[in-house]
Amino acid sequence: MDWNADLYENKHDFVAEYGMDLLSNVPENPDQSILDLGCGTGTLTHALLEKSPFVTGMDASPEMIIKARQLYPGMDFRVMDACRMPWNGWFDIVFSNAAFHWIPDQGALLKAVFRVLKPQGRLICEFGAHRNILRIREAFQASLLGKELPAKTRFYFPTVEEYQCLLEQAGLHPETVMDFDRPTPLKDGPDGLRNWARQFFWADLKDRHEKRRIRIFEEMEAALRNELWDGSQWVADYRRIRVTAVK
Ligand code: BEZ
Repeated sequence: MDWNADLYENKHDFVAEYGMDLLSNVPENPDQSILDLGCGTGTLTHALLEKSPFVTGMDASPEMIIKARQLYPGMDFRVMDACRMPWNGWFDIVFSNAAFHWIPDQGALLKAVFRVLKPQGRLICEFGAHRNILRIREAFQASLLGKELPAKTRFYFPTVEEYQCLLEQAGLHPETVMDFDRPTPLKDGPDGLRNWARQFFWADLKDRHEKRRIRIFEEMEAALRNELWDGSQWVADYRRIRVTAVK
């Protein structure tokens, strides 16, 4: 995935704003070490310093990590693949907001999380749940393919039951696994949906001509206006799964 870190930082900072609520689940303890897995431009990694001075952020995207280092010089940020993290029994907490759904091999991911946690260490994460952005995906796909089909996704959006099983298979003991609707207003009024799609569906858009992209955006907007436009802004049909689990 190629990321536009500036677009992400300027227009999609709601990703980190909503993560502040997840952050309230992280205990304060000056001795604990925390990993922010999929830290993006580092907003929450920086906020985690309120919980402990020992915070590391990692992301697979070099663009995101370059931006994070510019924004928060002196903090520990690494570019790496979450499934191949090099630590063993190092972190008290693995924290992650809006990142797990980008990782196709969840078995490998949770094995890696298990490995990097200390005994009794805790995973605290939130990401897209089953049926996340379903209406947006359906409209995007219909416009892209020119026909309506059940929405496929390159993202991982599990049910609660499915994720509980995966955690247990990886040796993690689920404490909380819950899902909920989180309608999410997008910035920039009428352009909010197309800016969002340009960022997050870029893998499907990048090889298309700009004129074709604009037509896709117009068709999406027409299909979704009744449901997701509230008169002044687009409100994306996000659903979240929130997890805490202990090693
Ligand atoms: C999200 O739920 O945060 C999300 C999922 C896929 C693309 C963009 C955002």
